[in-house]
Amino acid sequence: MNDSRTTKEGIRIHMPGDSAGMHKAGAVASQILDEVGALVEPGTTTAALDDFITRRIQELGATSATIGYRGYQHASCISVNHVVCHGIPGDKVLKDGDILNIDVTVIVDGWFGDTSRMYVAGRAPIKAQRLLKVTHDALMKGIEVVRPGATFGDIGAAIQSYAEGQRMSVVRDFCGHGIGKVFHAPPNVLHFGRAGKGPVLEEGMFFTIEPMVNLGRPETKVLADDWTAVTRDKSLSAQFEHSIGVTADGCEIFTPSDKFFPDLG
Ligand code: MF3
Ligand code: CO
Ligand code: CO
Repeated sequence: MNDSRTTKEGIRIHMPGDSAGMHKAGAVASQILDEVGALVEPGTTTAALDDFITRRIQELGATSATIGYRGYQHASCISVNHVVCHGIPGDKVLKDGDILNIDVTVIVDGWFGDTSRMYVAGRAPIKAQRLLKVTHDALMKGIEVVRPGATFGDIGAAIQSYAEGQRMSVVRDFCGHGIGKVFHAPPNVLHFGRAGKGPVLEEGMFFTIEPMVNLGRPETKVLADDWTAVTRDKSLSAQFEHSIGVTADGCEIFTPSDKFFPDLG
């Protein structure tokens, strides 16, 4: 019996039973992001948030996918204000109005659950609030087009046209990815592109969509720590990420939460 098929682009087609494992892993990652929200406030350090995440992963019987990944040493990435992604938790103290992305990936029974969302310390300025809303809605517009027969280009085009229509920009330097029993698998899930281009979606594909949207220009640079990516123009950046699976008639979200979008006060 052959239970593992990959497309010509190297994209794995999972078996119907595999989504149960993804739902379990996704639920753990999402629960931890729900819980850490209570700790996000002015005066807290990003290291304190990461310590909590490390402890909860352990208590829930899961494993961190990021500790030891390419030398990364933390259970989360915490990206504040103009940090686009891969912010390293540390002694940075949050202040009123800071916006931050917390990104957690866990392994449960061999399956990877990868999700990130935005938080606000105190109350964010209106422009930052708008960035959060547009980035969240851009992700959901990408998810909405997912069904067998659509293409990865359709996803990128939906996200790009929406974000740019709101006069914001989509980061090109980082993308979503296939996921499953591995952290990062084909394809690269671009958050920009043209409808009809790219691999065709099939039932059983599992991948993330994780658009990063900037208030200013899309260009990024990586700091000397080799991880922290920031906007070149220092403009604010936001990101939301779900792990999803293509179903017979659409998609399923493995990392849902009723707290996914923050209360902006
Ligand atoms: N969770 C990130 C993603 O969405 C990857 C983080 S890798 C790390 O793909 F090493 F920086 F943690
Ligand atoms: Co990801
Ligand atoms: Co992630």
